Formats: sequence, structure tokens, C-alpha cells
Amino acid sequence: MPASRPLAPAPAPASERARSAGQGLHVAIISDGNGRWASSRGLPRSAGHRAGAEAARRIIEASPRVGIHTLTLFALSSANWKRPAAEVNAILRLLHEYLLTETAHCVEQGVRLSVIGRRDRVPAALRQAIADSEAATARGTRLHLRLAIDYSARDAIFHAACRFYKVTELSPESFSRVLAEVYRGGSTEVDLLIRTGGEQRLSDFLLWECAFAEFLFVRKAWPDFTVADLEAALEEFAHRERTRGALPDALAG
Ligand code: IPE
Ligand code: MG
Repeated sequence: MPASRPLAPAPAPASERARSAGQGLHVAIISDGNGRWASSRGLPRSAGHRAGAEAARRIIEASPRVGIHTLTLFALSSANWKRPAAEVNAILRLLHEYLLTETAHCVEQGVRLSVIGRRDRVPAALRQAIADSEAATARGTRLHLRLAIDYSARDAIFHAACRFYKVTELSPESFSRVLAEVYRGGSTEVDLLIRTGGEQRLSDFLLWECAFAEFLFVRKAWPDFTVADLEAALEEFAHRERTRGALPDALAG
């Protein structure tokens, strides 16, 4: 009788593979499509932003479970000030509400919350809520949640460059440190950038940090983005070969 061959291990379920692929990743999301989601339902754009905030809650909750260590969400771009004041105010109110209702939950869940972006143009009460949430969650180690509010990567790089002349150690690492201070909230390399809503552009988000990021463009509007979509994104990411300019493993010899 032929010796029985050991059984090949059963392939791990997708969510498990996604989890291991997501281990320690920095995922950044351009959560686009809220307005169109609402308009296509005959709702005001603000309803799309509210639904988008719910989607954000779901994704934030799931992130540590799928092994993401840093999640950066583009909540409000500096370019969004060009929108009608009522819409921008609705977004600012949602952000304020999020900080007030979720900070305690973040503390419980080990989520450290930071805000990146300018703080001088947002309402004083929101500025205070940001500072309070950052202080309350400072010890979280399960997930670093970074909300980009009044954020422009070009502006951040410009201001870091203006300060950089004072720095004695001139290196990309020291520049990154200055950049992290300009808009606070740290500055870490993005592994995977996801943009929902069908557009395929970077829109002044994390220009420096995305130098070697993998990009994934999803047609779905942000309010429809689910945890399963996040897992599928991580699975796709796991199949990308990241060479950072070197040769792929197969050719490297
Ligand atoms: C993204 O959705 C959310 C923010 C910019 C705050 P949009 O508001 O850009 O939605 P669309 O692109 O108009 O559908
Ligand atoms: Mg948009």
C-alpha cells in the first residue's frame, strides 16, 4: 500500500487570510461618494454624510480585528471649504458628534485617536473636543485612528519645508518628523490607500506618506462600504507584490 501523503492544509478562510495580510498595516481611506449616495436616493447631501459617518464607525470598529494598526480617514479636505457653508457645517457637526459619542468607546477599545490637519479654522468647540479626545485616548495601542480634518498634504509639506531649515540633521526621516509635527498626529508610511466612490485620484491626501502605497479604487459609494469590502481590499493587497523599486522576488535570484 503506498504511503499516504500528508493532506495539503486546507486554505485559510478569506477573512483569516485578510487578517494576516492586514497585520500591522497602515490603511488610508478617501471616503468619497457620500453626496452622490444621498442624491441618488432623493436625500439631501447631509444625509449622505450622516450615512458616511455610520460607515466610518463600522470600519473603525473592524480595523483592529483585521489587524490594521493605523487607519487614516479623510474626513474633511482643506479644498472642501469651497462647498456651501451649510454642507461644511453639517460635516463639522458630525465630526464633533462623533468625538463626543465615541471617545469613551475608543478608550474601551484601545483606540488612540489623533487629528491631522489645520486646527485654526474649525469651530473652537470642535477644536476643544479634538484636544479632549486625543488626551483621553492617548494610551490606546490597538489601533491608531487618524482623522484628517481641514487637511491638505501639499500645505503640510509646504509648512514642514518652511520649518526644516532650522533642523540640523537633514534626512528624509527628520523631514518626516517635522511633517508629523506640522499637522500633528504622526506621519507614517501608508501601505494601502483605498478610495471609494469611483474617482481615481489622490486629491491632496498624504502625498509624502503614499510614496510606496498600493492604491485600490472602489466604485461603491462610502456609505455602502462594508467590513466585507475592507476584508476583500486587504485580500487584494496581500496579492500585490511590493518591490519599492527593487526587482520582484522571482527575478532577484
Ligand atoms: C466624501 O463625499 C465626503 C467628504 C468630502 C467629506 P462627497 O461629499 O465628496 O460625495 P460626492 O463625491 O459628492 O458623491
Ligand atoms: Mg467627492
